[in-house]
Amino acid sequence: MKVVRTVADVRAARAAFPALGLVPTMGFLHQGHVSLIEQAKRDCGAVAVSIFVNPTQFAANEDLSRYPRDLDRDLAMLDDAAVDLAFVPEVDQIYPSGFTTSIDVGPVATVLEGASRPGHFAGVATVVAKLFNIIQPTRAYFGQKDAQQCVVIKRMVRDLDLPVEVIVRPTIRDANGLAVSSRNSYLTPAEHEQAAVLYRALCAANAAFAAGERTAAVLRGIMADAIAAEPAVRLDYVSVADPETLAECQLAGRGAILSLAAFLGKTRLIDNILLGE
Ligand code: PAJ
Repeated sequence: MKVVRTVADVRAARAAFPALGLVPTMGFLHQGHVSLIEQAKRDCGAVAVSIFVNPTQFAANEDLSRYPRDLDRDLAMLDDAAVDLAFVPEVDQIYPSGFTTSIDVGPVATVLEGASRPGHFAGVATVVAKLFNIIQPTRAYFGQKDAQQCVVIKRMVRDLDLPVEVIVRPTIRDANGLAVSSRNSYLTPAEHEQAAVLYRALCAANAAFAAGERTAAVLRGIMADAIAAEPAVRLDYVSVADPETLAECQLAGRGAILSLAAFLGKTRLIDNILLGE
């Protein structure tokens, strides 16, 4: 595996691969990341992974400074996963002094996570566009875990004619249903169990849909009630949204995105499923 730290070096290294899959990450890698890497390797024959804790997608009050990092462990995991190219830039490679451009993807970036975390998706879209331009992957792989991020990136790729195919892969979960996340490292063992209520809430609403319930407000209520039953967890939002526009549904249909965000102590967790799956 080649490890490169500068834009010039990654561009030079990229030329060795006719087809290349890209998995953008913020490091502290886990099975969710590995599943994307494996798919990219299968599809493209060669895979690049970026590790960059992107400061512009964190608001001032968020966890940028304490975001978990372990580069040595990450690089060992990438090596084990037969990654071809690891791009590990410092902040000044991505945001040289004087950098002012930002990508505004429009309404899909301002609801849900975008409403709770203003500016978050401008930071995500901008860094992902830069990674696409720097690395020029054939395909790029993202996890359904961050459903709105997938919608935002697909919208950007369509709107700006970026020459990359976006592939979305299923959420990897722990045995108790909790979606695997770098931020789960903030949780105590007790909180890890309590956090399983997020997936239970999504499954309860999905079961009601399977039993014939179509009123989105009822499905939102089922999720909110399930969360309320776990006193350690404080709900931020629940949503039943159109998978393209992210507008809230009145009537829920198959494929709508059921999503929620909740706090466990200071840790903010998100999860989602596609209705009917
Ligand atoms: P990060 O949180 O490190 O996630 C990198 C990729 O892994 C994302 O596409 C995310 O959706 C995916 N992922 C995370 N948990 C997953 C799980 N349990 N199952 C499947 N996939 C999972 O998302 C980011 O970084 C950043 O916003 C980034 C796109 C790199 C831009 O900075």
